[in-house]
Amino acid sequence: MFFILIFCSISSFVDHHGRLRVHGSKLIDSNGDIIVLRGVSFGSSPGFYNVNAIKQLWNQWKTTCIRVPVDLSDGDLAIESLYKAVFSAVKVGIYVLIDLVGESPDDEAREFFIRISSDFGHFPNIIYGFSKSSEDSVSLLIKTIRRIDRLNLIVLGNQTELNNFSGDVKLDYNVAYAIHVYAGDDNEELKELVEFAVNSSLYLFVTESAATNSSEDGDLFLEKYSDLISYLNEKDISWIAKSISSKNESSSAFELNADPWKVWKTTDLKKWGVYIRDKLNWTFYNAEKK
Ligand SMILES: *[C@@H]1O[C@H](CO)[C@@H](O)[C@H](O)[C@H]1NC(C)=O
Ligand SMILES: *[C@@H]1O[C@H](CO)[C@@H](O)[C@H](O)[C@H]1NC(C)=O
Ligand SMILES: *[C@@H]1O[C@H](CO)[C@@H](O)[C@H](O)[C@H]1NC(C)=O
Ligand SMILES: *[C@@H]1O[C@H](CO)[C@@H](O)[C@H](O)[C@H]1NC(C)=O
Ligand SMILES: *[C@@H]1O[C@H](CO)[C@@H](O)[C@H](O)[C@H]1NC(C)=O
Ligand SMILES: *[C@@H]1O[C@H](CO)[C@@H](O)[C@H](O)[C@H]1NC(C)=O
Repeated sequence: MFFILIFCSISSFVDHHGRLRVHGSKLIDSNGDIIVLRGVSFGSSPGFYNVNAIKQLWNQWKTTCIRVPVDLSDGDLAIESLYKAVFSAVKVGIYVLIDLVGESPDDEAREFFIRISSDFGHFPNIIYGFSKSSEDSVSLLIKTIRRIDRLNLIVLGNQTELNNFSGDVKLDYNVAYAIHVYAGDDNEELKELVEFAVNSSLYLFVTESAATNSSEDGDLFLEKYSDLISYLNEKDISWIAKSISSKNESSSAFELNADPWKVWKTTDLKKWGVYIRDKLNWTFYNAEKK
């Protein structure tokens, strides 16, 4: 017992789970056990990309995965923020989804993935994400990553791909499919999509979610969101909520004047921030005990 306590205190979440692999319509860890990641997405507030923030996201919120959206048109700041976030996530021992967003030409996207898979591919913490709508671009980027990193999970951020590849065509041995879930939108088709994924042995990963509609602002539909999250938890689907930022938007977790470097208090958080912190923390301690 004493040994177990010591072991737990020095071993991080990623030490414990290792590299992730898609197995049928589930995600499994290096022990072969089903794992579900739950966390938060960063946004356009650069101050939050720091180790102190990411430590709190793990220690207080029980975030097991952060998502870092990278838009190459933002230039050096996007890359600097990414490197800070990745090194912090590795230090803290949680997973990090590096998600290329925006409309970058294939050659720039390719260069980006060569760079980050060379720099980070040896860490089991890393998950790659991108969104391309042509099959050629998708194959090109998968091949680019796989030449350098044969193992870590890749999340394809486009439903067109999901619809195209009904499980007969294996794009790669370790890919998942991103979906976005906004409680204020019509989510009629979600259950059918999940059923389709289960039937076709595909793993869905909710890389963006919020209680607002997809405009990310306006009313919070918290009851609907809570139902959606319960459903995802029941289906072992990983989910990530928007957003670690202090924008004047209701899907942004922090108040405008919150200090990213401080120890956060409840008063630093908007209503949504308090909700998602408590939801993540509750789920971490309770969801697995079905
Ligand atoms: C998280 O949940 C645990 C167990 O229920 C509780 O003891 C702890 O205070 C919670 N943490 C936060 C930051 O709410
Ligand atoms: C999906 O199918 C459409 C229509 O057949 C095609 O234009 C598109 O390139 C396909 N996308 C992928 C990623 O295969
Ligand atoms: C898929 O790609 C299309 C075309 O680039 C884009 O309009 C759409 O938003 C993408 N969907 C997702 C879920 O990323
Ligand atoms: C999933 O498979 C079942 C059993 O074969 C079938 O009845 C159902 O229609 C399928 N659902 C979807 C969305 O493909
Ligand atoms: C989404 O919410 C915003 C803010 O409340 C609102 O202006 C917009 O009309 C909504 N969009 C849809 C499609 O419901
Ligand atoms: C936040 O946005 C709302 C409109 O969405 C506006 O009325 C309000 O003045 C803004 N607050 C600040 C501090 O900019």
